[in-house]
Amino acid sequence: MNSPALSFRPFRMGDAARLERWLAAAGMPLPDRVARDVWAGRMAGGDARIHALAGLIGRVAVGFVRMDLAPDRSAELTLIVDPRLRRRGLGRQLVERALVEARRLGLRRLVALVRPENDPALRLFCEHGFETSGVRVVGFEHLARVVHRADRERPLEIVP
Ligand SMILES: CC(C)(COP(=O)(O)OP(=O)(O)OC[C@H]1O[C@@H](n2cnc3c(N)ncnc32)[C@H](O)[C@@H]1OP(=O)(O)O)[C@@H](O)C(=O)NCCC(=O)NCCS
Repeated sequence: MNSPALSFRPFRMGDAARLERWLAAAGMPLPDRVARDVWAGRMAGGDARIHALAGLIGRVAVGFVRMDLAPDRSAELTLIVDPRLRRRGLGRQLVERALVEARRLGLRRLVALVRPENDPALRLFCEHGFETSGVRVVGFEHLARVVHRADRERPLEIVP
């Protein structure tokens, strides 16, 4: 079953409790010994290196995208979908939005760190052009894809 098209807005402090629950359910570590106000404040605009969005159905946040921007014009992408609403095309919409944002921000590369047993995420990223990068990170697959403005343009036609 496909869900409706998501709209997006910046991450807010009020999203933190929901995100915390979903992360805990997914076994994804929360920032160690960092208070919620601190990490959520950074995601909600307090840290220029973090670009975080909520994906909405109506006014309800059903997914989150986070990009941690690096000085070399790359970013690490993290995303999560409401556990009750998975396998309905929402994750795909989050990745597509992340690519739009990456182009808008002038990024060259997106990376994602995914546990090797996380088949849903590996498949989702691979479907969107991410490949194993060869970078070794203990306990994770390091995936990467190039971001290029030409991605959204029609291929050049070569006339013989
Ligand atoms: C990974 C995640 C974001 C996918 O979200 P989702 O909304 O369920 O994904 P979609 O419905 O858009 O699925 C898109 C594709 O991903 C793959 N996929 C998603 N869930 C899958 C599953 N349970 N098993 C196998 N493939 C899966 C499939 O290829 C799917 O396409 P298909 O449905 O046409 O077969 C979601 O499972 C999640 O939030 N997981 C916890 C957080 C996480 O692991 N984040 C990624 C690490 S940064």
